[in-house]
Amino acid sequence: MHPLQLPLEYPILFNPLNSLFVHHFALFMKVGILTGGGDCPGLNAVLRAVCKSLILQHKAEIIGFEDGFEGMIEQRTIPLTLRAVAGIQDEGGTILGTSNKANPFKYFRRNNTDVSDEVLNYYHSLGLDALVVLGGDGSMTIAEGLYRKGIQILGIPKTIDNDLMGTDQTFGFDTAVSIATEALDRIHTTAQSHHRVLIVELMGRYAGWITLYAGVASGSDIILIPEIPYNIESIVARCRERERDGRRFTVIAVAEGALEQEKGLIIRETIADSPDPIRLGGVANYLAVRLKDGIESEIRTTILGHIQRGGTPTPADRVLSTVFGTYAAELVAKKQFGVMVALQNNDFTTIPLDQVAHKTRTVPLNHPVLRAAQAIGTSFGV
Ligand code: F6P
Repeated sequence: MHPLQLPLEYPILFNPLNSLFVHHFALFMKVGILTGGGDCPGLNAVLRAVCKSLILQHKAEIIGFEDGFEGMIEQRTIPLTLRAVAGIQDEGGTILGTSNKANPFKYFRRNNTDVSDEVLNYYHSLGLDALVVLGGDGSMTIAEGLYRKGIQILGIPKTIDNDLMGTDQTFGFDTAVSIATEALDRIHTTAQSHHRVLIVELMGRYAGWITLYAGVASGSDIILIPEIPYNIESIVARCRERERDGRRFTVIAVAEGALEQEKGLIIRETIADSPDPIRLGGVANYLAVRLKDGIESEIRTTILGHIQRGGTPTPADRVLSTVFGTYAAELVAKKQFGVMVALQNNDFTTIPLDQVAHKTRTVPLNHPVLRAAQAIGTSFGV
């Protein structure tokens, strides 16, 4: 951006005719930022924190790319001024837009060819000093590849699934758990009134974090997660046992990635040109059919779906997003790249991108929340 085109709120501290002005501006940072993969509550809060912090503390100029890496390939940008990011910490979605298909190493709009050199050239032609990527495992894998090509990248861990390696929590997870818990609480009262078995299918891909936390928070009777493959007989036995004890209803929280011991995963569809082609879904209806002959109560299913990703972030997610964003801004200023910011043991730190790329963090079988659920008698379908 030319100095004379500075956003209105930007303090003009220098006389443009003074050579010091030019010299000083040459030292300013120019930083690109994008939101990649599926959207997630907290993206706007992070964008606001990164931008405000870099502009106010380091006088940086920020360029946002539209629709994730697609904006870097198709050269679509938005200037992110203080005014553009003002007051967006409570807004769902992302003001930049996103895409979970645009991979520069295999670009779906150009016969899956590698356009990463174009992206590198574009990055240099914009005069960028750094690129901040808000994304999940797919985006961090792309970020790692672009870092190896010479782009100064820093990642911020986004996903409702909470499955990114190297961080105890991602932003968006707390909101998804809170939405899923509210849904399970509501299901509880109607299950109880009608003496039914109600099955609620939750997101999370190959990890059971959302289902475990929402299942425990809502007191679900049976929790099925990918980390513990279930068998139908055990679920039937638990429903019958509850009926015998006079508790004539059962709430089952099932993760979309839960595996039956014999059948494995239920795949809804495969999207050929996506970097992550498998879309899960359908396990609740599958379970309903399999349980039907074994139990007397009527069975109903609910698939919560994208509601878990939409709307305003919880206060905890807004705070986490703000700290992640400002911490990332400090690292950009210190020129610390090739890493993702992370939360480990309540401390903010970094992890190299190559330790995040191509990995999934699932629930460890000795996780305290899992053990607590087992201790209070929750069934995991085994
Ligand atoms: O990764 C977030 C997530 O919502 C997963 O929980 C879910 O499996 C997937 O994205 C759904 O993807 P899409 O938005 O392409 O349907």
